[in-house]
Amino acid sequence: MQGARKMQNVHESQHPLIKHKLTRLRDPQTHPVEFRELVEEIATLLAYEATQDIRTTPVRVPTPLNVEAEGVEIADRIGLVPILRAGLGMVSAFLNLMPIAQVWHLGLYRDEETLAPVAYYNKLPPRATVDVAIILDPMLATGGSASAAATVLKEWGVPRIKFVGLLAAPEGIAHLHTEHPDVSIYVAHIDDHLTPEPQRPDDPPRGFIVPGLGDAGDRLFGTG
Ligand code: PRP
Repeated sequence: MQGARKMQNVHESQHPLIKHKLTRLRDPQTHPVEFRELVEEIATLLAYEATQDIRTTPVRVPTPLNVEAEGVEIADRIGLVPILRAGLGMVSAFLNLMPIAQVWHLGLYRDEETLAPVAYYNKLPPRATVDVAIILDPMLATGGSASAAATVLKEWGVPRIKFVGLLAAPEGIAHLHTEHPDVSIYVAHIDDHLTPEPQRPDDPPRGFIVPGLGDAGDRLFGTG
């Protein structure tokens, strides 16, 4: 689905460092320790790409030369919204770059039969406390989880929403983009397709990104 790359608001990284690290991430021989490090490193680079338009206010700062320089301070209140579980692997990378960001967790898992997202954790207060929400989830497969998260954040009253992930299927991009065309999508790579219904016992389950990297949550937390 070539179209996913051409959609407005969809950003697929072209950076060689991200491509190199993603290659290591895909390899099933990559140990969970290195896998976690790579997720964090790629998330750091994607955070840089995804925050280029956050708002700033001008400030003046003294310098050691006894003069003042023009500077800026981040003006947007930023909310990081990791989707449990795998989104947790991306939080520290973002927090290192923007330590005053708020972190609001959303618990969503995919029903194995229907692949529909099932919400199980949400402690958002009644009114939105952020100007920009950045949904974090390594995988955008069918797009159901990300789209459900965006719906929750809009109902909460967040004016601007971004999604940052490592791998996306074209189907997931199309789903999220159709339901939330205003949500900017930043991913390290858009893969080929999703796995169909398994035909043989050793086929992977339905709805996995191909070629993909397996189950990001399991590989991050050593539960595969
Ligand atoms: C994975 C992944 C996303 C979701 C993507 O989580 O981390 O949250 O599936 O699939 P979708 O785009 O089709 O909704 P999973 O449901 O395996 O839960 P986990 O992180 O708790 O393992």
